[in-house]
Amino acid sequence: MAFTATVSGRRVACGPDQSVLDAFLRAGAWMPNSCNQGTCGTCKVRVLSGEVDHRDSPLGTLTEDERAAGLALACQARLRSDAEVAPSGPGGGSAGRRTHPLRDLDAVVVDIEDMARDTRRVRLDLAEPLAFHAGQYVELTVPGSGARRQYSLANVADDDQVLELHVRLVPGGAATERWIFDGLAVGDRVRAAGPLGDFFLDPEDDDGGEPMVLIGGGTGLAPLLGVVRTALARRPGREILLYHGVRGAADLYDLDLLTRLSETHPNVNVVPVLSHESPPDGTFYRTGLPTDLFLDDVGSARGWSGWLCGPPGMVEAGVRAFKRRRMAPRLIHRETFTPAHAA
Ligand code: FES
Repeated sequence: MAFTATVSGRRVACGPDQSVLDAFLRAGAWMPNSCNQGTCGTCKVRVLSGEVDHRDSPLGTLTEDERAAGLALACQARLRSDAEVAPSGPGGGSAGRRTHPLRDLDAVVVDIEDMARDTRRVRLDLAEPLAFHAGQYVELTVPGSGARRQYSLANVADDDQVLELHVRLVPGGAATERWIFDGLAVGDRVRAAGPLGDFFLDPEDDDGGEPMVLIGGGTGLAPLLGVVRTALARRPGREILLYHGVRGAADLYDLDLLTRLSETHPNVNVVPVLSHESPPDGTFYRTGLPTDLFLDDVGSARGWSGWLCGPPGMVEAGVRAFKRRRMAPRLIHRETFTPAHAA
């Protein structure tokens, strides 16, 4: 039986097995969200009236005390009656943001490229173009298991027909080792849904063109490529500092694209960083952790915006580094990979 959920005066019908978040995003109504799998807490809501079923909400994200206090995770909760909820998680302040409706996607694989060690670029041609904000992600359904895995889009927003995903091999992974790196072929049909996530540059949110620093770990570079190129299209002279952190030189990719970007825009500084190797002779790569190098390179980031995408340790270190350099918390954007959220 379908019930309706009301958020900030907007009423949306939720199907019997549909999460509150899914219903809102498909209706084109913004609700804060990030992981869509119950691990980040961004979609936390307060249930003002009505009853919800918490389903698979992990206790680590939604404690017993929070449940008793009327909180729920919108990405997991199903309605048991009509309900009114209000955003109450870390993304609650973004209520009312402009968004593009979430929808199912019919896609065909048109290209697979090994671009670095254990890293593939996969291109998916869509039956219909997808409206999204640069930096968002799509969710692929793994054939056979029905499991869903999230991959950030490397596209700029008006490049909306052929989606580009960067995929890192996860040993034993149902989506990577047993599908994308073993059997996925050009011509295969793929089931997907998107766009999702709050890690994006809102094209209508003019921030005054202040400098940006972006740090991507491994395939965390993907959404940053969309964000950087979107920011430059809006303000070509904007100062941009982009660190790409990997273990070794064999893990770097898209260096030609990044070099072209910094040659075309002298205000763009690209820094490939190797954490486990010395840079090969004749390269401009650096050694260490990108978050430490940022602290060495930048005395004050007051007024800057910061963009972090990668594993949890890197993202947490990045947030600390940005705050130490006086970046305002509201200007720090983060997308964290978790094991089932590997972009
Ligand atoms: S916990 Fe719901 S979006 Fe992350």
